[in-house]
Amino acid sequence: MVRILTQSMVQEAAAFIKEKTSVKPEIGLILGSGLGILAELIEDAAAIPYEEIPHFPISTVEGHVGELLIGNIQGRPVVMMKGRFHMYEGYGPEVTAFPVRVMKEIGVQKMLVTNAAGGVNTNYNAGDLMIISDHLNLTGRNPLVGPNESAFGVRFPDMSEAYSERLRKLAKTTAEAQGFNIQEGVYAGLLGPNYETPAEIVMLRRLGADAVGMSTVAEVIVARHTGIEVLGISCITNMAAGILDQPLSHDEVMETAEQVKGKFLGLVMALIPYM
Ligand code: HPA
Repeated sequence: MVRILTQSMVQEAAAFIKEKTSVKPEIGLILGSGLGILAELIEDAAAIPYEEIPHFPISTVEGHVGELLIGNIQGRPVVMMKGRFHMYEGYGPEVTAFPVRVMKEIGVQKMLVTNAAGGVNTNYNAGDLMIISDHLNLTGRNPLVGPNESAFGVRFPDMSEAYSERLRKLAKTTAEAQGFNIQEGVYAGLLGPNYETPAEIVMLRRLGADAVGMSTVAEVIVARHTGIEVLGISCITNMAAGILDQPLSHDEVMETAEQVKGKFLGLVMALIPYM
């Protein structure tokens, strides 16, 4: 069932948020597993629990307070989603879409999305970072299904440069300046929640994927629909199923994300002033 999210619902949410802070965010941050600590680096942060924001989805994951943080990082006004919505949790794609639309309504022009992903490209290693050059939406879902709100964007949006070339170049030169090699490749977004079978990974490689994960594509489709410039970075937390002779686990994903956190955070902090 598609829940129709209208422009007036987005405007109500945005009006509520604008009352809570004088900061006018330009950059939206949606951060994947392991990067939550960036929240602590936001200065003058206003924290707004999702449940207080009109029409906002509510996190169902136990022990997770979903909140929007608005403040400054490196002198740039940002809004960060602390807690993100995955379709495998049962949310419709239009729910995943809603916070991105609200971000746009409060002034966001650029978005940084990060995620944990499995390495499909056999030249990759766990612990690598990958600039997302493009994606394959293999979730079988699309957040733009339903009547098009022309105030948000056009019916048939262009996706030929979903991930900004300018921001990809910036990420590459920033990583190099920090002394590490960063991969660049295609992210395949699947619905999940199970990890893939080895046969599915062979298929994904033949389709042109370099990494695989369970987030990001719906958020990026909505961001592009509404004219936000996007940078995506994956943390390769594990090699995908069947590449190494070992089963995958969420613990391994979290462990690698933890190990790479410093490098990831350093890169993001260095990028934000130039985004
Ligand atoms: N597959 C899908 N999603 C993931 C993986 C994976 O191997 N690792 C981290 N997120």
